[in-house]
Amino acid sequence: MKKVIILGSTGSIGRNTVKVLQRLPGYRVVGLAAYANHTRLASQAKTLRPKMITLLSDKGYSAMKKALPRVKVLSGELGILEMVEHADADIIVCALSRSLGIAGIMRAIEKRMRVCLATKEILVSFGDVVMAHVKKYGAELLPVDSEHSAVYQCLEGKHKKDVLQIILTASGGPLLHRSTKNVRKRDVLKHPVWKMGAKITVDSATMMNKGLEVIEAHHLFSLPAEKIKVVIHPQALCHSLVQFTDGSMLAHISTPDMKLPIQYALTAPLRLAPPVPSLDITKVASMTFLPPDPRKFPCLGLAYAALRIGKSMPAVLNAANEEAVELFLQERLPFTQIPTVIKKIMHKHTPKRGGIEDYIAYERWARTMVREFVA
Ligand SMILES: NC(=O)c1ccc[n+]([C@@H]2O[C@H](COP(=O)([O-])OP(=O)(O)OC[C@H]3O[C@@H](n4cnc5c(N)ncnc54)[C@H](OP(=O)(O)O)[C@@H]3O)[C@@H](O)[C@H]2O)c1
Repeated sequence: MKKVIILGSTGSIGRNTVKVLQRLPGYRVVGLAAYANHTRLASQAKTLRPKMITLLSDKGYSAMKKALPRVKVLSGELGILEMVEHADADIIVCALSRSLGIAGIMRAIEKRMRVCLATKEILVSFGDVVMAHVKKYGAELLPVDSEHSAVYQCLEGKHKKDVLQIILTASGGPLLHRSTKNVRKRDVLKHPVWKMGAKITVDSATMMNKGLEVIEAHHLFSLPAEKIKVVIHPQALCHSLVQFTDGSMLAHISTPDMKLPIQYALTAPLRLAPPVPSLDITKVASMTFLPPDPRKFPCLGLAYAALRIGKSMPAVLNAANEEAVELFLQERLPFTQIPTVIKKIMHKHTPKRGGIEDYIAYERWARTMVREFVA
């Protein structure tokens, strides 16, 4: 029996993970964590009967404790750490929408749990330190993001020296065919293909999501920025490609549904029955691939710049973006100002190498700067 902790179980990836696990024989949920949605977390706990649950925000903690007398209810990031320490899990799925819970993830790596990572923000902010920890403890870190799962699968059994480049596909988001000027929140939150949380949907519209994925790919596959390309593929059927030194390419193609990469991250290298209907290739009318427009999507360029600068710059990029997106969602920052604000904060920052605590401090600095700038 494989025992699983899900961080962010109430979100889009978290709920899909629960659906996948409910069909998989030999897997059991032992820990759940959410940010503030205590009603949904309590309902999941009643169905899945984990040993422990964690609510990151203080709100609703007492109500949860009362509603679930047989479950250990914890709070804050220390709660995540305690679940990792005592829930006796083999796998941790990280699907919070922000780079929280890092201490718990580092401990999970030390305990050699399999880390199934959806929260790309963790690798963007702390990639060097996390990957060094994975190497040191011989742990497994598997991507949940569909693009990285695709690349991971195309690279299985291949030699790194034979890889010319990887090509991450992007659907182009909700604004691909319209101007980014004067867009409202409701236009941005209407993604043409994927049904996701609000933060990643905004990132998809600015293409910062692809920028964060470029940094994530750099850490996962140890490739420099020059070997990571992005193409727009509006049909979202090809999830990414690897090109080898002889010019040939391997592509990963499937139904666009996150349950597939979630299941592979949980079961790899085993391939189990599909969690969604498989793609009928004869029904695919066309697949197109276009270069992204750097003027329309400046966030992509900012992410490449942060990756090339390295040190603490990706953490600053990530935190500035998280804060700017939050202000956009609160309708306090226009959509077109998101890259402007991030660029300003990056210019003010002097990048330094450090440990997790240093990067958390730089993230905090970037968030404050964004709020001050917007105010
Ligand atoms: N959705 C996708 O298809 C997809 C695909 C690839 C990668 N990802 C990545 O997976 C992660 C989760 O995405 P999602 O779409 O599942 O997000 P989501 O639906 O917004 O869910 C996010 C989860 O994080 C919690 N959360 C909310 N505010 C938070 C905060 N300030 N700090 C920490 N956690 C917070 C939520 O808890 P409450 O419910 O209690 O608020 C929920 O459990 C993101 O990093 C995203 O980039 C998502």
